[in-house]
Amino acid sequence: MTSSDTQANTMWGGRFASGPDAIMTAINASIGFDQRLYAQDIAGSRAHAAMLGATGIITPSDAAAIGEGLLTVLSEIKAGKFAFRTDLEDIHLNIETRVTQIIGEPGKRLHTARSRNDQVATDFRLWVRDQCDAAIQGLTVLMTAFLKQADQGADWVMPGFTHLQTAQPVTWGHHMLAYVEMLSRDRSRFVDARKRMNECPLGAAALAGTSYPIDRHMTAAALGFDRPTANSLDSVSDRDFALEFLSASSICAMHLSRFAEELVIWSSAQFRFIRLSDKWTTGSSIMPQKRNPDAAELLRAKLGRILGATVALFTVMKGLALTYSKDMQEDKEQVFDAADTLMLSLAAMSGMVADMTANRDVLEASAATGFSTATDLADWLVRALGLPFREAHHVTGALVALAEAKGCDLPDLSLSELTSAHPGITQEVYSVLGVQNSVRSRQSYGGTAPDQVRAQIARWQADLA
Ligand code: ARG
Repeated sequence: MTSSDTQANTMWGGRFASGPDAIMTAINASIGFDQRLYAQDIAGSRAHAAMLGATGIITPSDAAAIGEGLLTVLSEIKAGKFAFRTDLEDIHLNIETRVTQIIGEPGKRLHTARSRNDQVATDFRLWVRDQCDAAIQGLTVLMTAFLKQADQGADWVMPGFTHLQTAQPVTWGHHMLAYVEMLSRDRSRFVDARKRMNECPLGAAALAGTSYPIDRHMTAAALGFDRPTANSLDSVSDRDFALEFLSASSICAMHLSRFAEELVIWSSAQFRFIRLSDKWTTGSSIMPQKRNPDAAELLRAKLGRILGATVALFTVMKGLALTYSKDMQEDKEQVFDAADTLMLSLAAMSGMVADMTANRDVLEASAATGFSTATDLADWLVRALGLPFREAHHVTGALVALAEAKGCDLPDLSLSELTSAHPGITQEVYSVLGVQNSVRSRQSYGGTAPDQVRAQIARWQADLA
C-alpha cells in the first residue's frame, strides 16, 4: 500500500473510500507542468471572487478575504516558497487549497458557481493570449531587422534563384523584403487569432452554466476579454485558440526555417554571400578553419518541434465528444514547448539578421554568372526586333549554348558571334546584358528594381514605426 491508497482526496473525498493508486496520481497530475498557469489562475480566481461578492452570491467580506488570500499565494509562488503538491493534481486545486489554508472558511466559497473545466479553459486562454502578444512583438523586432538589411542594400545586385539555379539578377533589398512580407503575414495571423480567442469561458461552469446569478460580463471585462463566450458546452470543450496559436506558430517557424537554410548556404565558403557574426557561429574542435552556422541550423530544425506539437494537439482533440474530457489536459505541454521554441527562435533569428554582413562584391560578381541576363536578351529581341517571345527564347538559347561552349558569359560574346544567331542584333544589346541594367529594368509593381524596392521600404518603415 502506498500512502496515497490510505487517504481519500480531500476535494472529493465525500464519496471516495480510498485515495488513488500512486501510478494513477502520476498519470493524472498536471501540476508538474500546469504550475506555469499560476498567474492566470490567480487572476481568474480574483475576478471570479470579486464577481461573487458583487452579485451577493458570497458576502463582500468573504470576497475580499479571498482576493487578499490569492495575492498572498501569488507572492508565495513568485518567491519560490510555494510547495506544489502532486496529490492536489493541478494548479487549480493547489491554489484553492492554499488559499483556504491561509484564510480559512471563506476560501471554501471560492469554487462556488464554477468548475475546473471553465477555470482551465480561462487560464489557458489567458496564457495563450499573452503568447500571441509575445509573438507579435518578436515578429515586429525581426521584421525591423530585415528591413534594416533591405534599406542598407536596396540596390545591391545578387543572383535570384529558382530551383536554386541562377535565374535572374535581383536586389538584396528585394530579397530581404520578401521575408518582411512573410513575417507580416505571420504577425497578422497572431493578431487575428488573438481577436478570435478573446472571449471569456469563465462561468460556463462544468458544462451547462450555473443556477447562481453570476455576472459573466463582469468577469470577462475584468480579465480583459471582449465578451463572455456564448455557449457553455463549447466554452469548456474548445481548444481552437491553442490550435490556432500552434498553426500560426508552425507557419512562422517554417518561414524561419527557409531563411535559416539560406543562411547556411550563403555563409558557406562556396557561396560567401554573407558573413555571420561570431556571436551566432561556433568553431570546430578539430578543424580550425570552421565557422559553423549552428544557430541557423537549429532554426532550420525547430519547425519539426513546433509542427510536432501542432499535430499532437490536433490528434488529442480529434474525435472528442462534447464536452470536456481529460484528454484535453494533454494540450498544455505541447503549447508550452511550442511557444518557448517560437520565442527563442524569433529572438535568435533577429540577432542573426541584425548582425550579419552581406558581401556586396561577392553578391554582385555572382549575379553576373550563370547567364543570369538571358531573359533580358530575349526581351530585347522582342522589344527591339519585334520577334515573337518564343522565337526570341530560341535565339537566346543558341547564344547561351555558344557562350557555354566558349566558357564565357553572355556579355563576353562578340557582336559577330551575336549576329550569328540573329542578323538583326546590334551593339545596343550589350546595354541589357549587364546585371545593373537588368535589375533597374524590372520596374513592374513589386518588381526588383531599386526604385520599386525603395518604395516598399518606405511603406514598411511607416508601418513599423
Ligand atoms: N488539470 C485539468 C486540465 O488541465 C483541469 C481540468 C480538470 N477538470 C476535471 N473535470 N477533471 O485539463
